[in-house]
Amino acid sequence: MTQFTFDAPTVIRIKRDGGVLSDAAIDWVIDGYTRGLVHDEQMSALLMAIFLRGMTPGEISRWTAAMIDSGERFDFSDLRRDGKPLRLVDKHSTGGVGDKITIPLVPVVMACGAAVPQAAGRGLGHTGGTLDKLEAIAGFTAELSKDRIRQQLQGIGAAVFAAGDLAPADRKIYALRDVTATTESLPLIASSVMSKKLAEGARALVLDTKVGRGAFLTSEAEARELAATMVELGRAQGIDTRALLTDMDQPLGSAVGNAIEIAESLDVLAGGGPADVVELTLALAREMLDAVGIDGVDPAQTLRDGTAMDRFRDLVGAQGGDLLQPLPVGAHAETVTASRSGTMGDIDAMAVGMAVWRLGAGRSTPGGQVQFGAGVRIHRRSGEPVVAGETLFTFYTDTPERFDGAMAELDGGWAVGDAAPAPRPLIIDRIT
Ligand code: URA
Repeated sequence: MTQFTFDAPTVIRIKRDGGVLSDAAIDWVIDGYTRGLVHDEQMSALLMAIFLRGMTPGEISRWTAAMIDSGERFDFSDLRRDGKPLRLVDKHSTGGVGDKITIPLVPVVMACGAAVPQAAGRGLGHTGGTLDKLEAIAGFTAELSKDRIRQQLQGIGAAVFAAGDLAPADRKIYALRDVTATTESLPLIASSVMSKKLAEGARALVLDTKVGRGAFLTSEAEARELAATMVELGRAQGIDTRALLTDMDQPLGSAVGNAIEIAESLDVLAGGGPADVVELTLALAREMLDAVGIDGVDPAQTLRDGTAMDRFRDLVGAQGGDLLQPLPVGAHAETVTASRSGTMGDIDAMAVGMAVWRLGAGRSTPGGQVQFGAGVRIHRRSGEPVVAGETLFTFYTDTPERFDGAMAELDGGWAVGDAAPAPRPLIIDRIT
């Protein structure tokens, strides 16, 4: 019997013309790309065709499964604490601006008795990545072997690691999407998130699905569909999966960048920090604890009594980081000042995200270096009073020739007016 084989132009053409890819075609193209037989330019064309044409639920499910099968699948179900299986739970965000939530959240849930195996990502498009932020801490490494992840889960209850051998197809596709304007695609986001999360060995998963100007999906209907798609993909694999739909019209917190977001996360862990960052951290922590049956503990207490900060020190120390070293700050700073008094209006999360990217906090080539000290501090947030002449934003970078481009991105992304904009809820819905 002759074996039917595929070729990349045929697979691309099917999707380009609005067709449905067969399971075999998806398996072939993901395997071929992982092994270097399908080339970057071919995968780029296919990703753009998927971006423009979309995928059926069946295609998304198979694409996700093929990405999981491209690598290892962790199983930590044998790990015990006090004779009982570890309560393994994780969270993932679909990407936002100023979204440093993982950094305070992981130690909060550790302090409440859960264990977190977290495969985290790097920046994508205008959004930041947890790994780029954590690597701003001197000595911190996210390149952990499976044995080291096991030891950390057993010893301290968490590991935050580069996906490495988990879903290597996603690692390559993620990097390609970042530089080919193919990030904002429901099937590509759902499969990217879920391939890593289903492979990492958590028994429960909470998804922070972002919606608004700074999210990949700006319409609420699409973000709801994304959340429902991911919840379904998780449930189909026997993982307790639930999602929060959260606002990403405005940046989260007052700090956007890499090191600058670590500093803000430390403020939260010290019991302070911006109210929105604290609110979302605690809401996600409650979902995670509920998903693994931990009740009777108040995650807010771990921020008040310092136990979450202690767990963060454990985590950073276990991964080689030194919190006593100063965090990097861009060598050059520029400010934007208020030309009038009034009230700060809405601040466009996309404008801030793009400004931060232009300052050097993100990448424009696959595998490129990020500047740890690049970022923006927002001194007056939406609804706060503004006095003419005061500083509203500070930009940081090591490469001052970037200031003009960053200023141009922020231009028009904020305004000082006479009245405060109507407040919007941060947590819009819960999807289970
Ligand atoms: N996070 C991911 O892991 N993948 C995406 O596509 C977006 C956010």
